[in-house]
Amino acid sequence: MGHHLEIQALLIALLGFMFIGKSQGNVHYYDFVVEEKNFTKLCSTKSILTVNGSFPGPTIRVQKGDTAFVTVHNKGSYGVTIHWHGVKEPRDPWSDGPENITQCPIPPGTSFRQKLAFTSEEGTLWWHAHSSWSRATVHGAILIFPVNQTSYPFPQPHAQETFIIGEWYKGDVQQIITSALASGGEPNSSDAYTINGEPGHFYNCSRETTYHSWVDYGKTYLFRIINSAMNEEHFFGIAHHRLTVVGIDASYTKPFKTSFIVIGPGQTMDVLVTADQPPRQYYIAASPFYDGNAPYDNSTATAILQYKAYTYNQSNSDDKSSSSSRAIPFPMLPALNDSGTAVNFSKRLRSLASKDHPVDVPKNVSRRIFMTVSINVLPCANSNCSGPNGTRLSSSFNNISFRIPKIDILQAYYWNISGVFTGDFPDEPPLYFNFTGDVVNTTMIPSTGTRVIMLDYKEVVEIVWQGTSLVGPENHPLHLHGFSFYVVGIGLGNFNNVSDPLSYNLIDPPLVNTFGLPKNGWVAMRFVADNPGVWYMHCHLDRHTSWGMDTVVIVRDGGTPQTSMLPPPKYLPPCS
Ligand code: C2O
Ligand code: CU
Repeated sequence: MGHHLEIQALLIALLGFMFIGKSQGNVHYYDFVVEEKNFTKLCSTKSILTVNGSFPGPTIRVQKGDTAFVTVHNKGSYGVTIHWHGVKEPRDPWSDGPENITQCPIPPGTSFRQKLAFTSEEGTLWWHAHSSWSRATVHGAILIFPVNQTSYPFPQPHAQETFIIGEWYKGDVQQIITSALASGGEPNSSDAYTINGEPGHFYNCSRETTYHSWVDYGKTYLFRIINSAMNEEHFFGIAHHRLTVVGIDASYTKPFKTSFIVIGPGQTMDVLVTADQPPRQYYIAASPFYDGNAPYDNSTATAILQYKAYTYNQSNSDDKSSSSSRAIPFPMLPALNDSGTAVNFSKRLRSLASKDHPVDVPKNVSRRIFMTVSINVLPCANSNCSGPNGTRLSSSFNNISFRIPKIDILQAYYWNISGVFTGDFPDEPPLYFNFTGDVVNTTMIPSTGTRVIMLDYKEVVEIVWQGTSLVGPENHPLHLHGFSFYVVGIGLGNFNNVSDPLSYNLIDPPLVNTFGLPKNGWVAMRFVADNPGVWYMHCHLDRHTSWGMDTVVIVRDGGTPQTSMLPPPKYLPPCS
């Protein structure tokens, strides 16, 4: 009898195992309705594009290994696309989303179903529109839980909360970028930053709606921070509370304590916070880190960390900042242009590299790409554009300003449509000079083209991104679709290909999808080209993307069905 039961249990376990092996986790279905909705902020009401009427949009919740199908219904008035930032989408660029890179926009009145295959990611990612500037209001969180919900590589948090840093424009964002591209000048900066859609106490007409995060004294929380801002990196901190960074871009890090984080657009960071301070209200703040020389929004978004046991003057709804004894403590954040602090913060990020969460850092590089990252200017007829000295602002990788084609690159590649792109993005810049010299050089005119990087399947790639002081040196949050990459080196000045590799971290470098290239510095990253497809690479500051700080990586098929791109879905939005 006992024996029989044992065999039965074994059979059930075996069947269960086979079933899990086959089904690859749970399947989730979401409907994303893209539609206009009125929101009132900063004393005025405007209509913005949203998903399901909310700002930020809905949260996708999955476990590692799950699959989600999202049907995007465009009920707006212009074409949009949605991208799942940091989801690698193995062999399936068809669902990745960037406009005219992997698909044409979803026309108003139509729907497009995308498949999100979660494989190695665990932690926090996000989704956002990837067409023109619509991501300003069309974005939301993706939370990827460990398989059994409890196997975090840190003590189980009491609860968790997501904080999305956003950027609010009083004007229409599409209008702002359209007119900036027409004039050649800087786009208008935003009018507020937001935390979970709310600007907070330091803006007009915003006090009543400030976001509150309620905590119990003595408990530890997992806070997931996402920077969805358009054009600014941020410092983020909570008054009197230490943050323990445990994850970045859905990959675990060696825990480290800090009083603030530096987070660029595109990045996500998971931190543990223990509510161990005298129960009251504390400010949570996001203020810009900006080390460039263009106009920017110098304001601060706040939310409130509120201890549940604390009773405050209900009639005022929040403690009055004016009365000093009751003033809500504010976090100490670095000066807004503190590049050094931002670099030091980056250097503290290390992969967890544990038995359960090992690293696999590529050692034998087979393809090296040295890529300059620059702001440029283009000459303008009659010198009457709005860039510096009547020029037109531009930007480039290896002095090539990327031109987005009319037909998406993925379809052009898959169906061999010629004349859309060329596979000749160079592995070096056209000229070596003192990239990071003091003199701000405005003489390098970029060429324009749709030149992409062609990689063989399983090529072991190292890319060194080299910042330059052309026109406007600043930090650039650089992002690659389809992969996570190891940041093996970070430095200031010009990269030295003899001495700098000697100090690479090949033991526990951070594994990310977006990383801040320091102002006048360099970043060395590595990845294995094991994901056949068409993958966008760009600066995640949207004005730089719009000016051409982009390219595409195409990974060729590996020669077997299992190492080749999946076929396209039955329906793709048409390219008009
Ligand atoms: Cu956050 Cu091209 O993406
Ligand atoms: Cu940039």
